[in-house]
Amino acid sequence: MTARTGRLVADDIRVAFRPAQRNAAPAIALDGLSLDVGGGEIVALIGPNGCGKSTFLRVAAGLLRPERGRVTLDGVGVTAPDPRIGLVFQEPRLLPWRSVADNVTYPLELAGWSRERRAARLAELLPVVGLEAAAALRPVQLSGGMRQRAAIARALVLAPDVLLLDEPFSALDALTRERFNLDLLGLQERTGTSILIVTHSIPEAILVADRVVVMTPRPGRVAAEVRITAPRPRSLALLDEALTSRAAAEIRAHLELGEPVG
Ligand SMILES: Nc1ncnc2c1ncn2[C@@H]1O[C@H](COP(=O)(O)OP(=O)(O)OP(=O)(O)O)[C@@H](O)[C@H]1O
Ligand SMILES: [Mg+2]
Repeated sequence: MTARTGRLVADDIRVAFRPAQRNAAPAIALDGLSLDVGGGEIVALIGPNGCGKSTFLRVAAGLLRPERGRVTLDGVGVTAPDPRIGLVFQEPRLLPWRSVADNVTYPLELAGWSRERRAARLAELLPVVGLEAAAALRPVQLSGGMRQRAAIARALVLAPDVLLLDEPFSALDALTRERFNLDLLGLQERTGTSILIVTHSIPEAILVADRVVVMTPRPGRVAAEVRITAPRPRSLALLDEALTSRAAAEIRAHLELGEPVG
């Protein structure tokens, strides 16, 4: 595993969206949210629909400026998209007219990499996500899981220190999903990237994460953090262990108790 220093810290984030009607109160999506991820850690973010998880990832990726609070990466403010931070959106946003290869290397094109360097990076990356055979296909020719893998590869192409994943496996069947969870652990090990993954699945959170961060309903902030002490490498057998049912009960209790502030 490559040693990384990238530590993403979000401190006291508040995001309010302007209301649809002129005199209505603003919709406060996040208020007082603080969390951090770094050092090759995998953190799972779990919380009810609409509590601000996707909003937070946009803030953490520098796509949305918070009204209050700040995000730093190794102490430097994140105020614009940063090549050291990779983001995979809730719906894989691939360019439909481009092949997998051209979608994955698109950020390199924007960064001015030569064709040769792009091809070399692609050859390195496609095996990491198991898409070697799909390089020439267009998004419409891929299964949902393959589209997710392509979007993950694109987010990894600039070798980010931090990877932000928004419910990346929610469209997959149960068995495929478990396999992807293990793949994600392998990917973290090979790349050294710290990962923040949003999920609605408690077993998924426990299987992949070193820490599970539970959010309150909107306005979102951290209700609790549950540490998952199982060592890595992990296997599906972890899901049958007593540790898992204890952690699951704790996470569920925090989700049920999570009270919005303000
Ligand atoms: N661009 C926007 N304009 C106005 N309101 C928004 C905007 N984006 C999000 N919101 C509101 O902010 C809140 C948080 O939305 P967000 O998408 O971050 O939730 P989420 O936790 O990702 O939910 P889910 O689990 O359904 O994906 C919601 O109330 C949503 O309506
Ligand atoms: Mg969301």
